[in-house]
Amino acid sequence: MSAPAPIEVAGLRKVYRQTTTGEAVTAIQQLDFRIEPGEVVAIVGQTGCGKSTFFDILIGLEAPTAGSIEIGGRTPYGDFDGFRGRIATVFQQDRLLPWRSALDNVRLGLEMLGLPEAQQVERSREWLARLGLGDFLQAYPHELSGGMRQRVAIARAFAVQPGILLADEAFGHLDEVTASQLRDEFVGLARANGATAVLITHQLEEAIGIGNRILVFGKPATLLADVRLDGYGADDTALLREAIQATLQTNRIDPRLLQ
Ligand SMILES: Nc1ncnc2c1ncn2[C@@H]1O[C@H](COP(=O)(O)OP(=O)(O)OP(=O)(O)O)[C@@H](O)[C@H]1O
Ligand SMILES: [Mg+2]
Repeated sequence: MSAPAPIEVAGLRKVYRQTTTGEAVTAIQQLDFRIEPGEVVAIVGQTGCGKSTFFDILIGLEAPTAGSIEIGGRTPYGDFDGFRGRIATVFQQDRLLPWRSALDNVRLGLEMLGLPEAQQVERSREWLARLGLGDFLQAYPHELSGGMRQRVAIARAFAVQPGILLADEAFGHLDEVTASQLRDEFVGLARANGATAVLITHQLEEAIGIGNRILVFGKPATLLADVRLDGYGADDTALLREAIQATLQTNRIDPRLLQ
């Protein structure tokens, strides 16, 4: 894994100009927070509140209108190549290449990093095996179930050994049992590898199950609440769910979340 560095978000703002109408759309109002190396963080927020936009800036696909995201003092959108292999994302759609086998899909990121071929193959095998797909190395995406395809996408993300792992609604479309298994594996592997993990989810249950911390975004994105889960016991789950739900609905922090 690359050297761990915090993610520092300061005065972040993003306004899009719609191509058809020329109208300005504020996707991110203002965000300020910091994620420490090795933290496992869930982001929840209403649809259209700017969560994916936040990820787009974090992976360097978009530049902010104002403010910054810095990782180890550098910005992903300003230094795209410098971040190659340091951040990996699992998306809602698996985004596998249909003409490549599972093994070759996982190899893709390693090819881009310029690893020797033998090492690409070895590492891809290893990660596919770790995700329970050791017998499906040569299978093509259309031969795999949705859950299996998402496992390939997870293997592909982990294989580059990134310091930061992102998941954007990566498990929501699978059945509940598969989703919670994959989510636990994703988080478990991130922890075992000392990586920072940030997961976007619509489902509060999923966010609460994830671990250290929940960031609740307003619409357009502001930080409504920064919930540290270690402050709550197992009995508090129902209260947490209600309080976060109320925060999302009213677009202001529910007093039960103030500690
Ligand atoms: N490239 C773009 N051009 C113009 N507007 C955009 C662009 N990308 C996103 N938006 C707008 O910015 C806002 C935030 O979108 P975003 O995709 O970040 O939301 P989200 O929180 O990920 O939503 P969801 O939960 O539905 O995935 C929306 O109003 C969206 O229409
Ligand atoms: Mg989104």
